[in-house]
Amino acid sequence: MTFKLLLIFHLLGSAVWVGGHLILFITILPKALRLRDPEIVSAFESRYEKIGVPALIIQVVTGIWLAHFYLNSIFDAFSFRDSLHTLIALKIILLLATLVIAVHARVRLISKLTTNNLTFLAWHISTITVLGLLLLILGAGIRSGGF
Ligand code: HEM
Repeated sequence: MTFKLLLIFHLLGSAVWVGGHLILFITILPKALRLRDPEIVSAFESRYEKIGVPALIIQVVTGIWLAHFYLNSIFDAFSFRDSLHTLIALKIILLLATLVIAVHARVRLISKLTTNNLTFLAWHISTITVLGLLLLILGAGIRSGGF
């Protein structure tokens, strides 16, 4: 039961995190860049973060918990000894990259967003969206027994 519940929450968190960033990347960001209007991004972010941040926390907790159904310890993943270990290790690396970029965007850019740093924020959003898609693909790889 625990595994199924974890998987359901992991899929839910993934839908919110990847889905939310795809909406931001495809429908919100292009308009903000075209009109050079950072307010368009701030308005979305101020609403989305209320569900986005909890979704990321759910991914970390359920992801590490799910990994323990496959590995004795999460650190074993860094042996890269087979595709399962490698996939889980890559997910942890991509998650750490996501956390660093997301915190930098929140602390250094979103809190003081202007037309001058809008393009720099756009690079952050693009990178986090690609990382989210890769985390989803790697997850499906674990589910389907590796690539
Ligand atoms: C934003 C972050 C993340 C996203 C979007 C994400 C997305 C996904 C998706 C879509 C799946 C496939 C589920 C399925 O096919 O049933 C999955 C599976 C999995 N993920 Fe993540 N994940 C994230 C973070 C993590 C982290 C940090 C870990 C920790 C190592 C992790 C570990 C796993 C494991 C072990 C599975 C396999 C579960 C199974 O048996 O299906 N994930 N992930």
